[in-house]
Amino acid sequence: KKRIGILTSGGDCPGLNAVIRAVVKCASHKGWEVYGIPYGTDGFIDITNGDRQPEDLKLYEHGYDIPGLLQGLDVLQFLSGSVLGSLSKGNTGDPEIAEKIIQGYNRLGLDALIGVGGDGSLEILYQLAQKGQWKLIGVPKTIDNDVPFTERSVGFDTAVDTVTEALYDLTFTAASHERVMVVEVMGRDAGHLALHAGIAGGADVILIPELTPIVNKEVVHNICHKIARLHQEKRKFALVVVAEGVKHEDRRQSRAIGDYVAKQIKAYSKHLCDRDAIEFCGMQEVDTRVTVLGHLQRSGTPSSFDRLLATSFGIKAVQLIDGEQYNRLVVWEGGKVESKPLEQAIALISQAHQQQRCPSPVDSNGFMVQSARA
Ligand code: F6P
Repeated sequence: KKRIGILTSGGDCPGLNAVIRAVVKCASHKGWEVYGIPYGTDGFIDITNGDRQPEDLKLYEHGYDIPGLLQGLDVLQFLSGSVLGSLSKGNTGDPEIAEKIIQGYNRLGLDALIGVGGDGSLEILYQLAQKGQWKLIGVPKTIDNDVPFTERSVGFDTAVDTVTEALYDLTFTAASHERVMVVEVMGRDAGHLALHAGIAGGADVILIPELTPIVNKEVVHNICHKIARLHQEKRKFALVVVAEGVKHEDRRQSRAIGDYVAKQIKAYSKHLCDRDAIEFCGMQEVDTRVTVLGHLQRSGTPSSFDRLLATSFGIKAVQLIDGEQYNRLVVWEGGKVESKPLEQAIALISQAHQQQRCPSPVDSNGFMVQSARA
């Protein structure tokens, strides 16, 4: 019989509750105890400070009651967010805080911890685990899809759907007003979300940091020529997707990249019209609008794929603990749930953070890179 902990850390995303549900169900069937640590590592600090009592953190298989005819309905996997709460930035660089976190862990007497996190939080958890000699299992989650070794992180699929739907909805207002809609998509330093949703949503131009790290004059020129070609084919609107990780040339401006791209397209198209450039004959100065999708991308109802992935990841995490295989990262590879040494994943994450670049290639099989180049 084991006593395990689970926490969610870093930016939330759809599917976190499905991981928690799977872990609780699977561990309960084995007769284990599960402690849900609130607000990431902050929950351990609360235990150390006596602000929370260990017994209050216990999770039960049927802990979420719904009244009326829906009584007994197990809704947890349908809900976005995290019932445990999450922590964006923990101050674990401070040795006193790290000590309190480790004390809290020890006070709970955990045999192992399941940390559901993105690249940043997994790195922090790993360092704490080394210091406190915890037995850690990492479960990758992030709409950015940039955790090494896993082709999919929990939350990515739903976010792709959310952005794809937004692009579809924007198409009609773009067409009605003959506008160029610039859509800024999350992803931090990575372009996976912008690329996948851009292709699925029929974007005419997709800018991702892996292929277009900086928007300079040449990039704006190419975008305007693409718009002009569409115009010649009688298509008088366009969708431009830009990942938030793309930078603009003028670093003195703190303007968000979507806004910058929209203004540049407008200004450059006017310049081409004024010059009566051949490719722009008959075309007016382009009217642009920008949409920043923001945190809507993090909160959609988990897709069926994310629910399945999250459930399989949660079960795998418990199985690894059962088999006493610790310090592993659960991954999705070639259509299978596998695990990799956490140490190797963290080494790649740290390297990428030092070099300020996205840790994984755009897609493991290259399909998406080729599509993007095309
Ligand atoms: O890492 C997930 C993510 O949503 C990124 O795509 C985005 O840049 C960032 O988190 C936003 O963070 P916050 O919620 O702190 O604004």
